[in-house]
Amino acid sequence: HYVDKGNYRHFMLKEIYEQPEVIGHTLGSFVDLTTGKTRLPASASIDFSSVKRMALSACGTGFYAALVGRYYFERYARIACDLDVASEFRYRESPLEDVDLALFVSQSGETADTLASLRHAKAEGLQTAAIVNVDESTIARETDHVLPTLAGPEIGVASTKAFTCQLMALAALSIRAGVARGRISEAQEMEFTKTLQETPRLVNEALHLEDQIDQLSREMATKKHALFLGRGFSYPLALEGALKLKEISYIHAEGYAAGELKHGPIALIDDTMPVVVIAPHDRSFEKTASNVQEVAARGGDIILLTDRKGAEAKVVDEAHTIVMPRMPEILTPIVYSIPLQLLAYHTAVQMGTDVDQPRNLAKSVTVE
Ligand code: G6P
Repeated sequence: HYVDKGNYRHFMLKEIYEQPEVIGHTLGSFVDLTTGKTRLPASASIDFSSVKRMALSACGTGFYAALVGRYYFERYARIACDLDVASEFRYRESPLEDVDLALFVSQSGETADTLASLRHAKAEGLQTAAIVNVDESTIARETDHVLPTLAGPEIGVASTKAFTCQLMALAALSIRAGVARGRISEAQEMEFTKTLQETPRLVNEALHLEDQIDQLSREMATKKHALFLGRGFSYPLALEGALKLKEISYIHAEGYAAGELKHGPIALIDDTMPVVVIAPHDRSFEKTASNVQEVAARGGDIILLTDRKGAEAKVVDEAHTIVMPRMPEILTPIVYSIPLQLLAYHTAVQMGTDVDQPRNLAKSVTVE
């Protein structure tokens, strides 16, 4: 199909702004909005009541979505999750007898390593499911269960809307699985689906922070390195934030679990090092706050993504604080993706790189 940029300077920015709508569409295939009950799309019929262990696998941004998925499935459905990048899944020789479902995440549905992993799982006799954005893709054709994201065509090489739609699908699925496994009551299910329906509005609010993030990107564009930190649900986001920045601005960026700061990356911190901290005021906040203080004590230049409560905690005197709306924990990975995407985008624009088609990268990697 032909897709144009409309009034946007880049496809990436257009796709960032499409998120409230496409996340809402994706939610609609996993939740019946009239009854507030979770459901599966017609192309899938997974019986989660008998799923105790899952194997998740994907590449690139899809892998980070799967990492959030692991946190969701383990917390809300008590399903143990193995997780591998697809290029390693086959080589790890993991015993798969106890795995009840192999779940793959792919925007294109054509990534060679993910496809090879799917075929490996099938050859091992596993039941397979795939979260895919392109429904006529090879992965969609070959998997037992298709879980479509409804992000629409994604043209920018750096994934944005496909990622947040994958997160929405995973969040809703984990609740569905929790209900099927008797871990979530009907009343809690209603509460969760009501929460999930708040996402488009919250994403929209986060998009209003664009000017503020554009300002911060001017400083970021002068840097050679950057560190991203997060804990718990925000850990995968630190990895994805760093990936987004390096993909399109070519600034060397690393994402770390905040608790790993002391085990290496702290050695890199001086007053030239920007540190982006993803820290909603959730159950991990106090611990992450102490990591932020360690960075501040070494002169690191902190960009703190938090909410009103986190900002009121006044963790350090000097930080560029982006105040996000307050939200239940399940939504934080989705909504906190927005400032990370905008930061990468504006930094790349400042640097004059080819945002939609960064050097050396392909939208879909069809060779192993
Ligand atoms: C490439 C793209 C990434 C994407 C990855 C996996 O590296 O540039 O944006 O996350 O492939 O692609 P998939 O289509 O399987 O999600």
